[in-house]
Amino acid sequence: MPKVILHKGGEVFEGDVAPKTNLVVSAGIRKFPFPNLAYKCGMGKCSTCTCRILAGADHLEPPNWKEKRQLGERLDEGYRLACQLWVTEDIELAQDV
Ligand code: FES
Repeated sequence: MPKVILHKGGEVFEGDVAPKTNLVVSAGIRKFPFPNLAYKCGMGKCSTCTCRILAGADHLEPPNWKEKRQLGERLDEGYRLACQLWVTEDIELAQDV
């Protein structure tokens, strides 16, 4: 099971998720990382779920067109849209408050 470490507001939240978990979908059904991950649309349109990947980015699919449109140059700084990611391996990420 992939381990997820989420940094948010000076706190660190840790949890295991099933392989191929979408963290926004998981939070939506009140599983980890609920209630600590901010999100709204779940469709790559609002960028509320933006997170910076601190470790494990190599295991993610390349950014899709929604992430490119929403994040632009921030992709180069490690930012991704959590709602567009499927977690298959351990990952560490941070979300700004
Ligand atoms: S929740 Fe809106 S872009 Fe991810």
